Amino acid sequence: MSSSSPEERTLVLIKPDAVRRGLVGEIISRFERKGLRIDAMETRTMDGEFADQHYAEHVDKPFYPPLKAFMTGGPLIALVLSGDQVIEVVRGMLGSTDGRKAAAGTIRGDLSLSNRENLVHASDSVDSAKREIALWFPALG
Ligand code: CMP
Repeated sequence: MSSSSPEERTLVLIKPDAVRRGLVGEIISRFERKGLRIDAMETRTMDGEFADQHYAEHVDKPFYPPLKAFMTGGPLIALVLSGDQVIEVVRGMLGSTDGRKAAAGTIRGDLSLSNRENLVHASDSVDSAKREIALWFPALG
């Protein structure tokens, strides 16, 4: 299928900072109002080994140890969303990684002031979506 298929899927994590701050409803509501479908949704708490698998491309980066501590430090909400060009659409809705620089109107631009505690993760390509969905929701992979 092409990347413009209506069946495209992405893996979204509503991170522990969003759960702690009571922003889960606000964030899911934005995805619903956009017209995206929720194919799976579950509360999970990552352990260190799972975090290393999820963030395989970042494990050697200097920002990884505090990122790992943050991401394993409390429950998060894992979702699989689907819709037309959902990968690109959701990345646009999140805004830039750094909440201080993200545009107003985006989730991070409106709600985050941090480069690490930036509320939401979403797959950045068709390949990473496939890999991440298989990791988090093997029954859907
Ligand atoms: P995410 O989309 O989950 O992918 C990698 C995460 O690492 C990113 O969101 C941020 O939470 C974090 N991150 C990326 N760059 C930095 C950085 N320079 N300093 C701190 N955290 C970062």
